[in-house]
Amino acid sequence: MLLLFLLLSSSLIVLAERCHPDDKAAILKFKNSFSNGPELLPMWSLDRDCCSIFDCDEVINRVVDFSLTYSNLAGTIPDAIGDLTYLKTLRLHKMPFLVGEIPRAVVRLKHVTFFDISWTNVSGHVPPFLAELKSVMFIYLSYNNLSGPIPSSLSTLPNMIGLDLSRNRLVGPIPESFGHLVSPALQGLSLSHNMLSGEIPTSLGNMIIYRIDLSRNNLSGDASMLFGASKNTSEINISRNNFEFDFSRVSFMTETLVTLDVSHNKIYGKIPSQILKAFMLQALNVSYNRLCGEIPSGWKLRYRSDGFDNSSFVHNRCLCGSPLTQCK
Ligand SMILES: *[C@@H]1O[C@H](CO)[C@@H](O)[C@H](O)[C@H]1NC(C)=O
Ligand SMILES: *[C@@H]1O[C@H](CO)[C@@H](O)[C@H](O)[C@H]1NC(C)=O
Ligand SMILES: *[C@@H]1O[C@H](CO)[C@@H](O)[C@H](O)[C@H]1NC(C)=O
Ligand SMILES: *[C@@H]1O[C@H](CO)[C@@H](O)[C@H](O)[C@H]1NC(C)=O
Ligand SMILES: *[C@@H]1O[C@H](CO)[C@@H](O)[C@H](O)[C@H]1NC(C)=O
Ligand SMILES: *[C@@H]1O[C@H](CO)[C@@H](O)[C@H](O)[C@H]1NC(C)=O
Ligand SMILES: *[C@@H]1O[C@H](CO)[C@@H](O)[C@H](O)[C@H]1NC(C)=O
Repeated sequence: MLLLFLLLSSSLIVLAERCHPDDKAAILKFKNSFSNGPELLPMWSLDRDCCSIFDCDEVINRVVDFSLTYSNLAGTIPDAIGDLTYLKTLRLHKMPFLVGEIPRAVVRLKHVTFFDISWTNVSGHVPPFLAELKSVMFIYLSYNNLSGPIPSSLSTLPNMIGLDLSRNRLVGPIPESFGHLVSPALQGLSLSHNMLSGEIPTSLGNMIIYRIDLSRNNLSGDASMLFGASKNTSEINISRNNFEFDFSRVSFMTETLVTLDVSHNKIYGKIPSQILKAFMLQALNVSYNRLCGEIPSGWKLRYRSDGFDNSSFVHNRCLCGSPLTQCK
């Protein structure tokens, strides 16, 4: 009786194997391409159902989520990654010894919506072929060792919601095409902490965007098109660039603006009093610019009991009034 039970249950385990052989082969190839793969990933083995390690789709039994984080795997991303053709999520995060370029094989991931290779030492260019990932909604490539320009082809991704290329060594301008995104609404764009330069394209004024972070680059020109009372933007950070424009002409998104940091630029003019209507504002920084005139007073902020302290306004040409010194 016991023997029968054991036989039954072991055959049940065999029957219960859901992993598709192609996915299993791809995962083993992935592991074995790293010199320390067999040592670090002993549980990825031939006799283990890969659907017990990774999320598989219930219906088609294919691996849909390949997430590997905090791993010391040493080597380059193998082409085998492209064999996991049903992936919706690819996440290689916090892998300091992952090096080399992002392989072209990733374009075979036709269903991928979340493409995240971040906090690794992947280098080379941001590949223009990522524009072939037509299902992708999020591309996160922050904290890598990527260099070269931003490929303008990324603007053609029809479903893109978030793009984060921050903390790399990217150079050159923001592509003009980013103002003509095919995707109807980009919720977040972060290009911060790179070495981008050149004038910001005026086309960016067309963007419908909720969060934009261009801080810590060497961008120049007139960034006033990012503003406008009719937009829905909630966070703008253009701190530490070379932007030069007249702040007096800017109008703010009074219903939605939560964070505004324009510090360390060459912005001139005065702070428009219309900013007082931005009742959602929680962080404001206009310090280290060339602003002049009286700081508007009479904040009616929903989430802050008072206004902003002097570090939000210091180091301008001649700003005055509370919380700085009285105007003469
Ligand atoms: C890249 O490698 C260097 C050492 O070679 C290491 O200090 C750094 O933390 C790595 N970067 C990431 C994001 O892991
Ligand atoms: C970053 O990439 C450059 C080449 O683009 C290379 O010389 C450097 O060693 C890389 N840094 C790390 C930590 O891998
Ligand atoms: C804006 O970006 C700078 C540099 O990346 C950062 O130090 C600062 O905290 C950001 N400002 C806000 C309000 O988040
Ligand atoms: C930043 O750009 C300006 C031109 O706008 C140029 O003169 C300057 O050398 C650049 N700085 C760096 C650090 O690249
Ligand atoms: C702002 O958001 C509202 C509601 O979320 C939406 O109806 C409106 O079309 C948006 N306007 C713009 C310019 O995106
Ligand atoms: C900012 O305020 C602090 C006290 O809150 C004061 O010590 C400091 O001198 C002020 N700095 C300027 C530039 O007004
Ligand atoms: C404003 O920015 C300056 C310079 O980047 C920074 O020193 C200061 O702490 C910031 N103040 C606030 C309130 O964010």
